[in-house]
Amino acid sequence: MKLFDVYPINDIEIVKGQGSLVWDNNGQEYLDLYGGHAVISIGHTHPHYVSRITEQLNKIGFYSNSIRIPLQEQLAEKLGKVSGKEDYQLFLCNSGAEANENAFKLASFANERKKIIAFSKAFHGRTSLAVSATDNPKIIAPVNETDNVVFLPHNDIEALNKAFADFGNEISSVVIEGIQGVGGIRVADVEFLKTIRSLCDEYGAYYIADSIQCGYGRSGKFFSHDYAGVDADIYTMAKGMGNGFPIGGIIISPKLKPWHGMLGTTFGGNHLACAAALAVLEVFEKNQLIKNAEEVGNYLITELRKIDKIKEVRGLGLMIGVELPEELSEARKKLLFEEHIFTGEAKPNVIRLLPALNLTKEHADRFLTALKKVIE
Ligand SMILES: Cc1ncc(COP(=O)(O)O)c(C=O)c1O
Repeated sequence: MKLFDVYPINDIEIVKGQGSLVWDNNGQEYLDLYGGHAVISIGHTHPHYVSRITEQLNKIGFYSNSIRIPLQEQLAEKLGKVSGKEDYQLFLCNSGAEANENAFKLASFANERKKIIAFSKAFHGRTSLAVSATDNPKIIAPVNETDNVVFLPHNDIEALNKAFADFGNEISSVVIEGIQGVGGIRVADVEFLKTIRSLCDEYGAYYIADSIQCGYGRSGKFFSHDYAGVDADIYTMAKGMGNGFPIGGIIISPKLKPWHGMLGTTFGGNHLACAAALAVLEVFEKNQLIKNAEEVGNYLITELRKIDKIKEVRGLGLMIGVELPEELSEARKKLLFEEHIFTGEAKPNVIRLLPALNLTKEHADRFLTALKKVIE
């Protein structure tokens, strides 16, 4: 059997990782500023993470949601504490797209409406409604096409006001990434997020904060939406939550009430996934990773903004987009194959930095030196 060929891959085989470093099968070391697409939050093979998962696996790895799983309650409690959303309720699933599907569904059950507002350049995943709310017609299959999703220009308060004035009573939810990832690291304006909050309140719609990439401490706050000083009704999470172990979740405001059978999952919240997620939050707390993301992120952003040839530097904390001019379109490849540094990309010419939240200043400096070298 062959693989279904859907990824343009780099011909590199990674066999080992530690912290922000990984090694290929030839022993070549790489600095990982991509974190396997914003997934590695506490660093590769963190010792606490490895031992927590190993210990759990030796006890029990999986049982279904038909029994009590105290690890889920411990995770909910810790997540409430670290995120500051202690009165929210947690529903666990396995991926980002699944988290968004559940958020859309929950909002629609609650207000019995159908329309979703999403924004230009948004990415919310590849499953049915999540992909319909993604601003990329190429990945929306005919079966996923729906009139229920309405796209508006990003950060355009006037267009948002107009949409609510025109059909506000039909809007079930508004979904927005606090910082667009795939869209090229574009930060949602504070005033824009505040307007979403007040319009949702006025019209009985729900504010869904897609925090799958920008959440979980990456921005220097637990949720990047926190910069706006507003609370969303539902936060969707995945990526950094399990540091590579597949786990996703939504946290739900107390105003949304559950009923049995409303949501459900086979694998979501299994013992092993909860152990992984707990290990992540324990390391967050012990080593103050959110603070580190803010400090090292601010340092990187300040230093990057001093480099003349860069067109624009966008982002918050350790979610940074470096927009390069057309003539430097080879920079990312050179960083990987000549300087041995993994970074992410966004079209057309943005280098995306999504490293582990315990990235050191020394590693940040190694990147800055290498970047200057490849663009000069
Ligand atoms: C903002 C955002 N939402 C949703 C998703 C989908 O997550 P997953 O790939 O885990 O389904 C992603 C993945 O890149 C994302 O960046």
